[in-house]
Amino acid sequence: MRIVTVVGARPQFIKAATLSRRLRDPAYAGIEELIVHTGQHYDERMSEQFFRDLEIPAPRVNLEVGSGPHGAQTGAIMAALERALPGLRPDLMLVYGDTNSTLAAALVAAKAALPLAHVEAGLRSFRPGMPEEVNRVVTDRLSTWLFCPTETAAAHLRREGRDEDVHIVGDVMFDGYRFHAGKPEVAGAVARYGMLDGQFALVTLHRAENTDDPERLAFLLSALTQVAAVMPVLLPLHPRTQAAIARAGLQPSGITIVEPLPYADMIGLLQSAAVVATDSGGLQKEAFFSCTPCVTLRDETEWVETVASGWNRLMPKDCADSVAQAVLQAAAAPPSDRPLLYGDGDAAGKILDILLASR
Ligand code: UD1
Repeated sequence: MRIVTVVGARPQFIKAATLSRRLRDPAYAGIEELIVHTGQHYDERMSEQFFRDLEIPAPRVNLEVGSGPHGAQTGAIMAALERALPGLRPDLMLVYGDTNSTLAAALVAAKAALPLAHVEAGLRSFRPGMPEEVNRVVTDRLSTWLFCPTETAAAHLRREGRDEDVHIVGDVMFDGYRFHAGKPEVAGAVARYGMLDGQFALVTLHRAENTDDPERLAFLLSALTQVAAVMPVLLPLHPRTQAAIARAGLQPSGITIVEPLPYADMIGLLQSAAVVATDSGGLQKEAFFSCTPCVTLRDETEWVETVASGWNRLMPKDCADSVAQAVLQAAAAPPSDRPLLYGDGDAAGKILDILLASR
């Protein structure tokens, strides 16, 4: 069985690493995986570094599409992938998450009548117009196998009439977290970034809804400056946000800004932070895996279980003051226990077993 895995953005490299690693088990010798990198993310720190550090097999093809508006980027991936497909001769295509790379690959697979596996299926923000929501709804619709991380995700798909194709397997990000969490390079991260254990806020910010409106961006940065008056704030900056800050002429003050982090450093910092504030989907969960309270810098989250368990809260909408207060309060009062919500750490094995059984 030959699987063509299509990835393009940083979180997809992290997810794909888990499945590729599991495929090295002799039990899966009958499966060959070819990786296609769309080139959506191309900076060394957003791409190659992850392939190297996470020992992901080199892509068979890099479509090198780069950045662009949604239509142009999605269309460029489709055109290039369609050209590459006959040379790859896949039995099925596999995609992760909700990026433009996911959507483009799903459309190409569907038009080639190629069975499609979607990992991280069934997530919904119910926010119309959110790029990731559009991408995931369409991808789910076109998928043959819907691999869901949680019961909530499966319930969304069942409501859409997809009972038979739904498989709750757990979260591949939890597999990856468990694999890396105890490694020595993870433990040294706090010192490398000049932070003290348990005494800083770790922040990421990159969603279009937070970066593209200068007023919203200024509001969030001013909340972070207020947090920084109480505890150090470490902000590894996504290139998109860096560009948006420059465009808006903003000068964030009091915040320690660093380049995008390697995966091991991010996990180490997550484990040591007093609190996480983020608009990333993945980081909300990794904070939960690390028993670190999180404030989600959005008006809704797809990972509703983390909120129900008390480890995650949505940011207040009214003013920068209350956002800063929410972050500081979350840091001061972590819940006493943490349920197991994202599977048993072998989502990848379950996915491969289901694919093999369906031959
Ligand atoms: C994409 C995903 C988002 C995911 C995120 C993870 C879509 C619609 N969005 O957002 O769901 O959470 O990846 O990071 O697919 N840029 C660089 N170098 C890079 C990559 C991006 O400079 O290596 C800059 C470019 O200016 C580009 C901008 O970031 O225009 C946006 O990049 P893009 O890949 O379109 O979306 P992300 O914001 O990264």
